[in-house]
Amino acid sequence: MTTYLLETERLRLRELRPDDVNALHGVLGDPETMRYYPHPFTREETTAWIDKNLERYAEDGHGLWAMELKTSGELIGNCGPTVQRVDGDDLVEIGWHVRRDLWRRGFATEAAEACRDHAFDALGLPRVISLVRPENKGSCRVAEKIGMTVWRQTLRGPGWVHHVYSMTGGDRAALDSRG
Ligand SMILES: CC(C)(COP(=O)(O)OP(=O)(O)OC[C@H]1O[C@@H](n2cnc3c(N)ncnc32)[C@H](O)[C@@H]1OP(=O)(O)O)[C@@H](O)C(=O)NCCC(=O)NCCS
Repeated sequence: MTTYLLETERLRLRELRPDDVNALHGVLGDPETMRYYPHPFTREETTAWIDKNLERYAEDGHGLWAMELKTSGELIGNCGPTVQRVDGDDLVEIGWHVRRDLWRRGFATEAAEACRDHAFDALGLPRVISLVRPENKGSCRVAEKIGMTVWRQTLRGPGWVHHVYSMTGGDRAALDSRG
């Protein structure tokens, strides 16, 4: 039986499984989706991505989770909190990828908001971040829509500048009080 960790209006989030490889590869193997990564994933890299997240679940209790559409049960992306080392500090990032044919329907924002609330309320974290290349306008917008602002910048991967978007529990409380 599948255990769902988070539920939103249209989505359910659960741990990734090895048999998600085909559906997840439909997301991470797409050249446009992976435009801001070194290259689209090969099938082997998608398998390794699932394996890495299985390790994270075991070690950290969380990781990138499968994003399932409630209506059909299909996997349409991933979203979740992962530990990232940023300039010597271990911080928890909310990350997201959505299958390209379903972009701009609010799925990334819906999943990311649920993960943000989980990070503050269930995990009790003081701060969550998101690492986004400034050119990646869609992802910057998701971070901003869930209440993050650019905190600083860092270099990732092959020397690429990334915004470190961030928010604290206090920032969220301020958002809530503004409605
Ligand atoms: C970034 C991504 C997850 C957004 O997913 P999505 O489900 O389309 O996002 P949403 O529908 O929730 O959109 C959130 C906001 O971003 C905007 N947006 C989405 N894609 C955009 C784009 N390519 N350019 C500019 N704005 C964009 C939406 O219009 C919306 O803003 P609005 O409400 O002000 O109109 C998706 O484009 C994706 O998977 N990209 C590739 C993977 C990636 O870069 N992941 C992040 C690595 S840091």
